[in-house]
Amino acid sequence: MSQPVPVPRVVADTPLDATIEGLLRGRVEVVALDSVRPEGSAPVEADGLYTYGHPTIDGALLDRIKGVKVISNYGVGVDHIRLADAEARGIPVGNTPGVLESTTADLGLALLLASARRIVEGDRYARSPEFVRYDPGYMLGREVHGKTLGIIGMGQIGARVARRAIAFEMTVLYHNRHRRKEVEAALAPSIAHAGLDDLLARSDYVMLCTPLTDETRGLIGEQTLALMKPSATLINIARGAVVDTEALARALLDGRIAAAALDVTDPEPLPRDHPLLTLPQVVITPHLGSATAETRRRMAEVSVENLMAGLRGEPLVHPVTR
Ligand code: DGY
Repeated sequence: MSQPVPVPRVVADTPLDATIEGLLRGRVEVVALDSVRPEGSAPVEADGLYTYGHPTIDGALLDRIKGVKVISNYGVGVDHIRLADAEARGIPVGNTPGVLESTTADLGLALLLASARRIVEGDRYARSPEFVRYDPGYMLGREVHGKTLGIIGMGQIGARVARRAIAFEMTVLYHNRHRRKEVEAALAPSIAHAGLDDLLARSDYVMLCTPLTDETRGLIGEQTLALMKPSATLINIARGAVVDTEALARALLDGRIAAAALDVTDPEPLPRDHPLLTLPQVVITPHLGSATAETRRRMAEVSVENLMAGLRGEPLVHPVTR
């Protein structure tokens, strides 16, 4: 009689979203990451690792999970995974590019517009007892059309933000490690490459669309904020740690920049008593860049495809390269 094929064991930060659970049901046995993490507990055996809510994965953890053949991440950003540690152990890492860039760019524009036109403040006011009469003099915002958007990071998301901003009659400056001539050609004459300092000095809105790397960590801090116009708005749809949070809070409190719209923060979430949470000129969302039902579904599918391919010992559909 043939032996039953063992179901692969996959360590994951739980609870997982219901769609992912559905895609994994019957195909893998999920082991909670929390049961593996405590220092000093016995190493466990598992075939794969699935990261859902950005848990930190480093060599010390990997050494305590024996037999891992693949790390599959739900999402495109893998700054929470020490890629060098995975590589040193011969473990491929997969992510989910190609399914979330437009959705994230949509949120970037939504934040820009919400901040410029004071949508969140307006919503609060319209619901409050203070709203008793229309007054053409209240809640004046900042114009969007005709203004300059500086995009830092011209990858798949940055390029989509640029296209949307140009549709809103904005001019785009961008800064990127490498010039993106094909994006410039497609969006000419409304886009131009700029050095970082130049972009910061000339932009009315600055949007961060870059991955978090050693190079971009703390990129927006005391010195770079000082280059921005006092009327400028900073929008972050990248990772919180691209910005020095305390420097940003000081710049906003001192009126050295006008406003900020943040989908990501460092730390995330911010302490509940953090000054940034008290400022009316700050719009803040809880890391919603790719949060639509359709996009989350596609992210689940791609991440599970990566996981299953790795468990079978096959190349990943979307391997992360360093
Ligand atoms: C991403 O794709 O990196 C988003 O932050 C969701 O994880």
